[in-house]
Amino acid sequence: MSRRPFIAGNWKMYKTGPQAVETATDLAKLCSGINDPEIMIAPTNLSLPLVAQAIKSSVVKVGAQNLHFQREGAFTGEVSADMIKAAGAEYILIGHSERRQYFGETDTCVCQKIKATLGAGLKPVLCIGETEAQRDEGKTYFILDKQVSDGLKGCGLGELSDLVLAYEPVWAIGTGKTASIDQVGEVHQHLRSLLGRLFSKDLADRTRILYGGSVKPENVKDIMDIEDVDGALVGGASLDADKFIKIIKYNE
Ligand code: PGA
Repeated sequence: MSRRPFIAGNWKMYKTGPQAVETATDLAKLCSGINDPEIMIAPTNLSLPLVAQAIKSSVVKVGAQNLHFQREGAFTGEVSADMIKAAGAEYILIGHSERRQYFGETDTCVCQKIKATLGAGLKPVLCIGETEAQRDEGKTYFILDKQVSDGLKGCGLGELSDLVLAYEPVWAIGTGKTASIDQVGEVHQHLRSLLGRLFSKDLADRTRILYGGSVKPENVKDIMDIEDVDGALVGGASLDADKFIKIIKYNE
């Protein structure tokens, strides 16, 4: 089964609105005419509507980095899936390790956010990954299995057709350390078979599984060549359009 490759940029808490629009516009020009891979950038929620508007006629899609799981209410400082959708996003990153680590997001909370995202007709990118200590203790698969099964608990098979999974070992994010080809291959294969056991072989075959953690122009090709890797979630190297386009054009 062929899955459309997907390269996504997570801009984290970088760039003001005008700066985000400038980079997004540059990137959109560089991406003109590209069909594969599918391309997405996730600016801050403040920049999102500006970016979405600026590049609406380009192939580059827009995503959010986070949401609140309620539709609306007295939740000061928060933004809902409907609001994100109305701002022009198609995807939402959920459960990024920085959300789990610094904002106390649990798998239960991740699951609520997945459901809110699906409920709004948006596409979730469920981010999972083990810490260095968990890997050293031999708990990698225990952690990943829990993050996937608890994060998707109660979701119906029919709802998950647009699910994207992003495996990001926490120890490889922003550190310059990339997981080895063998480590990534093993984990991705494991995750695909887990989706098969939890849902169906068909869903497992269709779901795109991205790798994230210090992906850069120099290593993207080797990562994309790994079986069961369908794309990349890129942090630092996605902030510069000239650098990110080299990742997007990994096949040239
Ligand atoms: P990085 O971040 O590419 O800067 O390591 C990846 C991510 O956090 O999604």
